[in-house]
Amino acid sequence: MGILAQSLKMKKPRTLAEPFKIKMVEPLRMTTVGYRKAAIEDAHYNPFLLRSDDVYIDLLTDSGTSAMSDRQWAGMMIGDESYAGARSWEHLEKTVKDLTGMPYVLPTHQGRAAERILYSILGGADKVFISNTHFDTTRANIEFTGAMAFDCISEEDSDMQADLPFKGNLDIDQARELILQYGAERIGAVILTVTNNSAGGQPVSMHNARQVHDLCREFGVLFVIDGCRIAENSYFIKHREAGYGDTTCRNIAVEMLNLADAFIMSAKKDALVNMGGLLVMRDRTLAERCTNLLIISEGFATYGGLTGRDMEAIAIGLKEVFDEDYLHYRIKSTEYLGRHLHEKGIPVLRPFGGHAIYIDAKSLYPHIPVEQFPGQALVCELYIQGGIRCVEVGSVMFGKYAEDGGHIPPKSELVRLAIPRRVYTQSHIEYVIDVFDDILDRRKDVKGLKIVYEPPFLRHFTARFEQL
Ligand code: F0G
Repeated sequence: MGILAQSLKMKKPRTLAEPFKIKMVEPLRMTTVGYRKAAIEDAHYNPFLLRSDDVYIDLLTDSGTSAMSDRQWAGMMIGDESYAGARSWEHLEKTVKDLTGMPYVLPTHQGRAAERILYSILGGADKVFISNTHFDTTRANIEFTGAMAFDCISEEDSDMQADLPFKGNLDIDQARELILQYGAERIGAVILTVTNNSAGGQPVSMHNARQVHDLCREFGVLFVIDGCRIAENSYFIKHREAGYGDTTCRNIAVEMLNLADAFIMSAKKDALVNMGGLLVMRDRTLAERCTNLLIISEGFATYGGLTGRDMEAIAIGLKEVFDEDYLHYRIKSTEYLGRHLHEKGIPVLRPFGGHAIYIDAKSLYPHIPVEQFPGQALVCELYIQGGIRCVEVGSVMFGKYAEDGGHIPPKSELVRLAIPRRVYTQSHIEYVIDVFDDILDRRKDVKGLKIVYEPPFLRHFTARFEQL
């Protein structure tokens, strides 16, 4: 048989179609390149300043952008809005206790509210926090108390192209050195972020979580898991770590949480809701202190910053997210996007993360110097060419000024395409892949940007740019 005949006979693998069907639709507005050029200029070349109506595919974040299921919506109708001891609270509390094995559950309005409560109690001027990588709001809440936050990730794991299974792991040697250097009594907590959002959405292994647990036990230090994407992390453990192939993703999460003293979760990710957060712990004294702060700032202990219907939706979402078919589709569809961009020659961070694909804008646009923001240039170009909104994770977000006003760039100039959960179909993803043909065709014509306004903190949200 000739090669052509053979390849014709070879069966194409079946499309991985969504494990859900659509019951309610939200129309999207189609716009033209000309319209979008004007819109991004009006938004000062910052996609955070665009109107969402002008966006076709919104990959700005996977946070709070999930589509809820019919069951979650049905749950919202039976939400109990009593001020204290609501049925919906009991439902949420039981679900979280079953998952974490931890006795004290505090509801908050989102992840950073849980962080503010916990870290303002554990933090303070002489304290030190250690993490695989602190997420921005985690670092900000820690540093706001005067404490220091150190990221511990190995050289090998931070290599953008290294094909390693658990590049989100915390480097135990670096963490041990910090504990010895500052003394165990100064360590506020060791925080394991799963998956490691700021390091490319890379997973953390169970082995690493066990090592962190042992290190914390050895020195009597609190072990916190920031697990807003713990279901996605569990999928990676099931498929990459020896001995877990036959364990359910939920049981993997239960096993990991069993190692920790406290659990923080932004429910806006793996609880499949649009708003909500959790602060969960084992220690009664710590829980009492946190509850006092919760009541002052969020709300009474049985609702935090949430309505009864919110709590009902979180309780249901926390069960749905561990559906093996859902997780398979979720991780594979992110991988599908990454693989096709890679095959087109787009420089992408590998292996692919769980919730997002990261593009190396410095390699895509080698002619744009870092002080002219190649990542921001790509973000604008994706919007103009395809109506796609995403976020720069490079010099705009993390760049600093030297004393002489010069630019100190971060390690990399990335662009994050974050995928909302259950929102876009396979053909939306195909569309995103197609837009990259135009990105490649035009790569030499794209120009850098300069900042014309920036606020003193978190400048990426409101900075204004001009094209060079
Ligand atoms: N921890 C991690 C690892 C996160 O990714 C986030 C939010 C938070 C904490 C804070 O949670 O937004 O509910 O207050 N990440 C979003 C993102 C904003 O786009 O990655 P929150």
